[in-house]
Amino acid sequence: MSRRDAYLREMGLTPLWRARAEPVPQARENPAAVPPSATAASGDVSAMDWPALKAAVARCTRCPLHRTRTQAVFGVGDEKADWLIVGEAPGADEDEKGEPFVGQAGKLLDNMLKSIGLKRGENVYIANVLKSRPPGNRNPEPEEVEACVPYLKRQIELIQPKLILASGRFAVQFLLGREASVASLRGRVHDYQGIPVIVTYHPAYLLRNPPEKAKAWEDLCLARETMARLEK
Ligand code: URA
Repeated sequence: MSRRDAYLREMGLTPLWRARAEPVPQARENPAAVPPSATAASGDVSAMDWPALKAAVARCTRCPLHRTRTQAVFGVGDEKADWLIVGEAPGADEDEKGEPFVGQAGKLLDNMLKSIGLKRGENVYIANVLKSRPPGNRNPEPEEVEACVPYLKRQIELIQPKLILASGRFAVQFLLGREASVASLRGRVHDYQGIPVIVTYHPAYLLRNPPEKAKAWEDLCLARETMARLEK
């Protein structure tokens, strides 16, 4: 089986030329609710080391989301990773477990990583634009993003990844400072402060639109090729 076919199979997709012969399993979505927490505000985020940054995020009250979250979701993985995956915001599962991408979208993300030989925590770091869950999984508000992005900026400075995979519209907006659609930005290499950025669809979007997984595979291939060039 080719790598592409293996990817499509992992993703629950059948190559188009086989679609009539094999049934395609459908992925499911996740939602839910939350309780409270909170305390003091943080200092100069741009100068923090990992422990200070983690503590600041855990007690952050910069935006109203601290009132409804169970806990802040800092990020997970190798703090010296070459690969950084940036998502949007914690959902219900992430809010409960305190780790990004642990629900259905996270399972899909893990499979996507696997398809290009990567594994959560091994040379990969995963973080979100927002560290607190927006109630009901609504879209982040601009003020929430503005309040939270210093944390992601500092994470990127500390990690110094070789490549960033921007997953979905909000990651793209922060990293590229552009409102354009994922569809219009994918397929080429962008830049965040000298770090190559590959744009791809958010796993939650792919769960709702399984045929788009084939395009995400192209994005992953571009990311892998870009990384290979960097490593030469
Ligand atoms: N979606 C995201 O963008 N991040 C998560 O951590 C979970 C779902």
